[in-house]
Amino acid sequence: MSTNVLVLSAGTRNKIIQYFKMALTDKSGKRIGNVIATDMSELAPSVYEADKFYKVPRMTADGYIDVILDICKKEKVTGVCSLIDPELSLLAEHNREFKDIGVTVIGSAYEICESCLDKWKMFCWLEEHHYNCAKTYIDKELFYKDLNEGKIQFPVFVKPVKGSASIAISKVHSREMLDALFSNTDSQLMIQEYLSGQEIGVDCYIDMLSKEVVSIFCKNKIVMRAGETDKAVSFKDDRLFQLVTQFVREFGFCGQIDIDIFEVDGKYYISEVNPRFGGGYPHAYECGVNHMELIVNNLNGIVNKPNIGRYAEGIYMMKYNEVMIKNGEQI
Ligand SMILES: Nc1ncnc2c1ncn2[C@@H]1O[C@H](COP(=O)(O)OP(=O)(O)O)[C@@H](O)[C@H]1O
Ligand SMILES: [Mg+2]
Repeated sequence: MSTNVLVLSAGTRNKIIQYFKMALTDKSGKRIGNVIATDMSELAPSVYEADKFYKVPRMTADGYIDVILDICKKEKVTGVCSLIDPELSLLAEHNREFKDIGVTVIGSAYEICESCLDKWKMFCWLEEHHYNCAKTYIDKELFYKDLNEGKIQFPVFVKPVKGSASIAISKVHSREMLDALFSNTDSQLMIQEYLSGQEIGVDCYIDMLSKEVVSIFCKNKIVMRAGETDKAVSFKDDRLFQLVTQFVREFGFCGQIDIDIFEVDGKYYISEVNPRFGGGYPHAYECGVNHMELIVNNLNGIVNKPNIGRYAEGIYMMKYNEVMIKNGEQI
């Protein structure tokens, strides 16, 4: 029986599709399953890498999930994942319906996806469970009270509670600037202690069968662009592996996740989690950290053994642009 993987909202993530296709190819070069991609646009380049493409409505449209369930039935899909944050909760919410037709949702449970979308919820959890994290306020008056009492200082970092892709983030130096930001927005903002240190990205895989952390890849971010890591270098640290393992276990993640961490004065601060393949995952893959293979194993009922830190340090990743050309008949 073949193992077919459905990747939703594939967008510009061509490499993710290519890597899944490779994981679904046996040693003799024979394909052992298909990769099916969806997107709401036929101009999403990654869908042309897939074995099959379905153009679907926007994920917020009525009946969207039924369209996805139909594709799963038609294509005999084994596992489904999404590459965009809001869709992770949607998949988790309908986990039962997927299960009923034999499809595994590659991702974390609903409450977990929701807690990752809401940076205030994440902060409350981290604080309650005694993990180092940036002190955070959603109440501006409470922040001013602490500021007057010397418990926090400018600069601070302001970002939307439900933000993504580094949209509407600011380093704030004064009350005037803070007040202006709060009065000029419709979205809920939060004020965070400014973390001045090395930014780190962690790609982690939690076995979907054993629920154990089986793979961790750490990179120091060198340059960020449009909310994504543009240049980075791999490193290893047992202390960080232990922290990530404990955090992931306690939070209860499942499948692929991407964690943002800061290192400030030798201490690791957990910042945020995207419970999906992050934009920087190709760095891990190209260093031999193949999470697509782990997913395919899980979909075939095989439990992966922990294999943490089996990659080289000092490997650099530099992103660059590519283009795809198609004539109108191919679209
Ligand atoms: N407390 C902070 N101090 C300094 N920089 C921060 C802080 N929080 C976030 N940043 C910077 O802003 C970027 C975006 O913030 P993040 O919380 O990761 O939101 P998202 O990626 O969902 O937009 C981070 O990658 C980091 O560069
Ligand atoms: Mg982030």
